[in-house]
Amino acid sequence: MANQILPYIRVEGIAEYSSKISALAKNKKIFIICDQNSLQCVKYLQSNINELSEAPIFKVGLGEENKTLIVSQKIWDFLLQNNATRSDLIVNVGGGMITDLGGFVASVYKRGISYLNIPTSLLGMIDASIGGKTGINYHHYKNQIGTFSDPKLAICDPHLLNSLPKKELLSGFAEALKHGLVFNAKYWQLCTSKPINQLPISEIITDSIKIKSHIVSIDPYEKKERKLLNLGHTIGHSLESLLLEKKTPTLHGFAVANGIVMESFIASEIKLLSRACFKIIKSSIYKIYQPISIDKSDIPFLLEFMKKDKKNSFKEINFTLLERIGKGKIDVNLSEGIVQEKLEKFFSIG
Ligand SMILES: NC(=O)c1ccc[n+]([C@@H]2O[C@H](COP(=O)([O-])OP(=O)(O)OC[C@H]3O[C@@H](n4cnc5c(N)ncnc54)[C@H](O)[C@@H]3O)[C@@H](O)[C@H]2O)c1
Ligand SMILES: [Zn+2]
Repeated sequence: MANQILPYIRVEGIAEYSSKISALAKNKKIFIICDQNSLQCVKYLQSNINELSEAPIFKVGLGEENKTLIVSQKIWDFLLQNNATRSDLIVNVGGGMITDLGGFVASVYKRGISYLNIPTSLLGMIDASIGGKTGINYHHYKNQIGTFSDPKLAICDPHLLNSLPKKELLSGFAEALKHGLVFNAKYWQLCTSKPINQLPISEIITDSIKIKSHIVSIDPYEKKERKLLNLGHTIGHSLESLLLEKKTPTLHGFAVANGIVMESFIASEIKLLSRACFKIIKSSIYKIYQPISIDKSDIPFLLEFMKKDKKNSFKEINFTLLERIGKGKIDVNLSEGIVQEKLEKFFSIG
């Protein structure tokens, strides 16, 4: 594994990063974007970093439904009313929703204004803040409008996770498990060695950032290796959508964790992954996440959803699967019939 973290992403405590932020903020007007829940993190930052203490705050409504063009416009109005110029600085403080939205808003305001990301969720720290993707949802489709743009600095301070609800922590942790499974068996072993509250969280964040940074640095535009990060997501997204449809929504990471188990079952069925590895993955994941059980009659919905994915070609469904723990394989194309048969088998075994 490459040993570097992208230069703009740092895992630190406030004592180390306050001076960096002060230096970047010098002689600039600062604007903070957050939501109601990350406001407490903003208060903590403001009480420790002088340059942030008086900064105007734009508070976005809670939840994914606010990652929109309408909210972006409201933020641009707020910036214009406060005379923000291109040499000023935006500080995004929040989960992936805020860093995606705030990054997008900043990347096009007056053709691009500098911004910092201070992610406050585990998912934000180990996933959304890495790789330069910013964006908003459009016409109910996720991340349809966006830019590739890097913040000047992204700071991951584990202290900020103290207020994060446990279920949100677990949701983000599914991405850490994925990083281990596709790229680094030792890291997977670390992640599954103890209950999450006994794990060294700074080390987990640092290692996950290293893995994702490395993968996106060799393939920034998702032509090849970046697809490794789709493990668990082909089925995971379809489960997320099914449960939303049934009005029993689940968090992204819970759906991805279940997607990883089901995709690993398929990988073992097609003899890509050993049965023993599948069993280890299944039991480790089900120790942390409740299995999502669905009815056989829901499988057509899952298949329809998977077929819509833009990565597919010629009616086959494109998967990232595992060859073993620590090694993913991209572009495994399977026919709809095979996927249906394997899912039916998975749910009949239970
Ligand atoms: N850009 C990328 O590459 C990328 C990658 C993965 C996900 N994403 C995006 O990230 C978003 C999901 O991120 P998320 O799971 O962080 O969602 P989120 O930002 O909605 O945060 C989840 C919940 O946790 C709350 N929260 C965040 N930090 C908190 C804290 N410290 N204390 C208390 N509550 C806190 C939020 O208010 C929210 O209610 C999605 O919009 C997704 O599209 C982007
Ligand atoms: Zn994900």
